[in-house]
Amino acid sequence: MKAYRASILRFDTDREPRHSAIFEKDGLLVVGPDFQGTQVVQAVGPYEDVKRKFPEVPVEHLPGRIIAPGFVDLHIHYPQTNVIGSPAEGLLPWLENYTFPEEKRFAAAEYSQQAAAFFIAEMLRNGVTTALAFATSHPESVNALFNEALRHRLRLITGLCLMDRHAPADLLNRAAHDCARDATEQSLLDSEVLIQKWHGKGRLGYAITPRFAPTCSPAQLSGAGELAAKYPDVWIQSHVAENKDEIAWARQLFPDSRSYLSTYADFGLMRERAMYAHCIHFDDEDRILMAETKTAAAVCPTSNLFLGSGFFDYVAADRAGFSYGLASDVGGGTSFSPFHTMLAAYYVGREGQTKPGLSLSPQQLWWQHTAGAASALGLDGRKGGPAVGNLLPGYEADFVVLNPQATPLLAFRTGNSNSLDELLFAMIVLGDDRLVEKTVIS
Ligand code: GUN
Ligand code: ZN
Repeated sequence: MKAYRASILRFDTDREPRHSAIFEKDGLLVVGPDFQGTQVVQAVGPYEDVKRKFPEVPVEHLPGRIIAPGFVDLHIHYPQTNVIGSPAEGLLPWLENYTFPEEKRFAAAEYSQQAAAFFIAEMLRNGVTTALAFATSHPESVNALFNEALRHRLRLITGLCLMDRHAPADLLNRAAHDCARDATEQSLLDSEVLIQKWHGKGRLGYAITPRFAPTCSPAQLSGAGELAAKYPDVWIQSHVAENKDEIAWARQLFPDSRSYLSTYADFGLMRERAMYAHCIHFDDEDRILMAETKTAAAVCPTSNLFLGSGFFDYVAADRAGFSYGLASDVGGGTSFSPFHTMLAAYYVGREGQTKPGLSLSPQQLWWQHTAGAASALGLDGRKGGPAVGNLLPGYEADFVVLNPQATPLLAFRTGNSNSLDELLFAMIVLGDDRLVEKTVIS
């Protein structure tokens, strides 16, 4: 067992609203193994109280630092690290001109391995300890990312990107070497092999990953839906309703579905543990479908602002009652930093809402990138499963050590904050990777 003395931020799951934070100015976090050997939070609270109960446990003192839950990124593309900041008129030309050419390179195992190492180091530098990530359509890319995540004990979920049409030939899923199976059939077989190899290994999870309806044939979506039914505890990830041209394309390809979103439902791809990125251009029927199927949304504000895609409607989402959390969407998104993503989400909340002038509180923003995101992924300890994104007893002990003095301006501004909200807002507005002194995966 080990303990850390610092200021500690966590969320009170017993209180409404769910994003209510608890801040211990002088706190103690005790970490130790649970009965399965996983390092979890054993106790947390005011230093004097907790220390009295654990007098023997060695304490690392971190004066002036803040311990907070590791961040959870609900949607990020590891093969797009190298396309961040590529401008385009919108999503479709961005995919064609920058993203697809870069993703082709992941056919090479060595390129994938190097990219995976850089990507995971970058996430950790920014305080991200759990992620739902896209790889490419090459099994090599999936194996490389899982291997690297395993080495760093990250809680990482990824899967083979399913795309069997409407993309450059060497980015489509590959047929069997001896051509005994076509690309569609092989992609589904490869997915199942990867599920069996990786899902539940250490802290890893598999996500069935149709890229988006326009690059998947009906046969591929249907096979993905069958896999999703066969493996109910495997995740599903895809994109939906991000961009007007994308939506028109999807509607043209799947005219029998009520909407772009319901195309996925029609193929059995909406259920608990399904996560759809963007979810911008929805109507209320779509939102109700999200809620009824317990499907969650990954909100990607830096990406949506950068690619000019639009604004996630928080007001309408809350009215329908579906789950969501924050995501960087690198490389459509512009930053690995959860602070940049939270700030962009704040801007989105101010504009583009059915009711303008919404002001997301700093506690709401922080929760959406930690405990709220974990809950949207089903990683909040429900049904006895693992819990991340918070620092309550029983949660996996992934955390960041923040240094609010990291830059002169941060020190100046946080030094005269008069409330928890002021402190959190100062870090959201001024923070980046410099604020994260250390990321700890216990
Ligand atoms: N839709 C389909 N593929 C992608 C992608 O790689 N990025 C984004 N932002 N949207 C997509
Ligand atoms: Zn994406």
